[in-house]
Amino acid sequence: MPTVIKLGVPHPAAPQPNVDPVLSLGVPHPAAAPTQRHPVLSLGSPTLQRPNPTTVRSYHNTVLEESAVSLCGIQPGDPVLELGHGPGLGLEAAATLLTEPTGRLIGVDYSQYMHQMAGDRLKELVSSGKVSLYQCDVAAMPLAESMVDKVFHCNCYYYWPDLRKGAAEIHRVMKPGGVMGTTLRLSSVASFASRSEFPAENWQPKAYMEALRASGFNQVTMEDQQHKHITYQAIYDTAEK
Ligand SMILES: C[S@@+](CC[C@H](N)C(=O)[O-])C[C@H]1O[C@@H](n2cnc3c(N)ncnc32)[C@H](O)[C@@H]1O
Repeated sequence: MPTVIKLGVPHPAAPQPNVDPVLSLGVPHPAAAPTQRHPVLSLGSPTLQRPNPTTVRSYHNTVLEESAVSLCGIQPGDPVLELGHGPGLGLEAAATLLTEPTGRLIGVDYSQYMHQMAGDRLKELVSSGKVSLYQCDVAAMPLAESMVDKVFHCNCYYYWPDLRKGAAEIHRVMKPGGVMGTTLRLSSVASFASRSEFPAENWQPKAYMEALRASGFNQVTMEDQQHKHITYQAIYDTAEK
């Protein structure tokens, strides 16, 4: 059994947790030694060692973030937004695609810890103005209307206490015709939900898709996709205005 039991990061107003918020995300602790081993390949290694659950979860997380980035079809000159960026893996992947001067990246996360961590990871891009990070709630972003072409997020909406507020805010900041996409591994999310990790039933894709439909996303789609041998669910749509 993994010793890590929490998937998410508590609301900033909540008391300090005893669990390390990075470990609780399933990403390696920054102080941990980097590993060169491919966690999936190691499943079949001659040593027959059991894979480290934290490493496997970290690998899944990276795959999901990369998939969320590619899901929304980022173009080199797009203004792009990531919601709940956590340590900044997805921001890092998206930034490499934004090669034109108009290509800008915005990240929001209400956790001070994650805001700081992503800021450290992307220090140079933040200094140059290519990347802007805001420590704020998805439901109240300090962003102008219709300013981004693409929005992506990963392992995030399950924590929003009010999905409709979050979905309405996404729609507000998106340009007409912009694309929003999120990725998740439903089996893993359901397993966390069974341990009461999330508020209410907000983790259910159906709940999030209904909130999107109520906010101006009229053709919300969910489908199975695959990347690096991992099957995941993708939810996406175009913002109509
Ligand atoms: C499970 S982590 C996922 C992080 C990252 N997307 C990844 O997959 O590695 C969820 C992140 O969403 C952030 N988050 C959750 N609810 C949020 C909200 N309402 N507003 C802003 N950030 C939120 C948390 O602080 C946390 O960093």
